Amino acid sequence: MKIALFPGDGIGPEIMDEARRVLDALDLPGLVVFEGDVGGIAYKRHGHPLPEETLTMARAADGVLFGAVGDPECDNLERHLRPEQAILGLRAELGLFANLRPATTFAGLEDMSALKPEIAREIDVLIVRELNGDVYFGEKGMRETANGEREGYDLMSYAESEVRRIAHVAFRAAQGRKHRLCSVDKANVLETSQLWRDVIIETAADYPEIELSHMYVDNAAMQLVKKPGQFDVIVTGNLFGDILSDQASMCVGSIGLLASAALGERQTEFGTFGMYEPIHGSAPDIAGQGKANPMAMILSLAMLLRHSLGREDDAVRVENAVAKALEDGVLGGDLGGPAGTREIGDAVLARL
Ligand code: NAD
Ligand code: IPM
Ligand code: MN
Repeated sequence: MKIALFPGDGIGPEIMDEARRVLDALDLPGLVVFEGDVGGIAYKRHGHPLPEETLTMARAADGVLFGAVGDPECDNLERHLRPEQAILGLRAELGLFANLRPATTFAGLEDMSALKPEIAREIDVLIVRELNGDVYFGEKGMRETANGEREGYDLMSYAESEVRRIAHVAFRAAQGRKHRLCSVDKANVLETSQLWRDVIIETAADYPEIELSHMYVDNAAMQLVKKPGQFDVIVTGNLFGDILSDQASMCVGSIGLLASAALGERQTEFGTFGMYEPIHGSAPDIAGQGKANPMAMILSLAMLLRHSLGREDDAVRVENAVAKALEDGVLGGDLGGPAGTREIGDAVLARL
């Protein structure tokens, strides 16, 4: 088994250290671990946020654990040299089109949610976010209009094959859960969304046992905080999924808790090749202070164990250790508690 670790920028290396300690404690037989540079640190060391050797390392692995990228010092670089291009490049180059972002309540954390505890208690949603298309990857640029103004543009588009493949992922996920799928779009305004909705409806014919509904994204943002318990699986495009998943994290309690898996079609000897990352970013405001919550990173490791290494038992062990730490009141600053990054890592290790 080979896995690649890409810690990245800001809090990335701090939280990756804790995931690494958990990984080492599992003592997986025959595991080989590589480490590579991504993001601002890669730009500073190699002149590019996604160096060729990093990409090669990712391709050679069964799974990739990705910390976070983003560095305020790089915000004025040309776009193709910015740290964020590392994550976008890996997703595109590795064909990782399906992003699974689960958001589920943790016992004992109901009071930490931004919602009322009785509403927070109901959350158990899986956001299936399309990751290789949408306005993220359309033609973009800066141009001058006829009257000499600057104009920025980003083309939003989806091809039907792109919608169909993510639809299948979402319907299959719903089969393994509560059999409810809500597709989120903006079909009242966007052609991209009309096609999205049409293809989702066509695909539904293969899954008669799944209860399908549709919701406009503005309403979905509202419903997610009004009554999150109504959702089982949500399927949506790249941009809407990005925004709704950060919002869902605050329903659970903190962005420092949500993990994600980016999967494609490639199978390895042990499972599906994927890249695993917290949904949050490099948090420059708290970087280098030992304050970041490493739980989203550790839970991302659990998803890697499950999907790419076929180690369901180890994945559950890690998830239970995190849940137990939270239940025991081990709370980081993001949850209003005093625990630092290392202390949270220690607490998880002690419960493993
Ligand atoms: P962010 O997620 O980095 O931070 C938002 C807020 O949440 C900050 O106040 C931060 O301190 C807090 N936070 C995030 N993760 C935390 C954790 N584990 N523990 C405690 N607090 C945490 O989002 P941002 O500030 O909008 O972006 C910062 C940089 O990260 C930008 O360069 C952005 O492009 C990048 N980014 C990267 C990724 C990624 O690598 N996957 C994701 C999102 C943003
Ligand atoms: C995420 C991030 C990324 C995205 C950025 C850093 C490109 O916000 O993974 O949620 O928008 O997909
Ligand atoms: Mn995001």
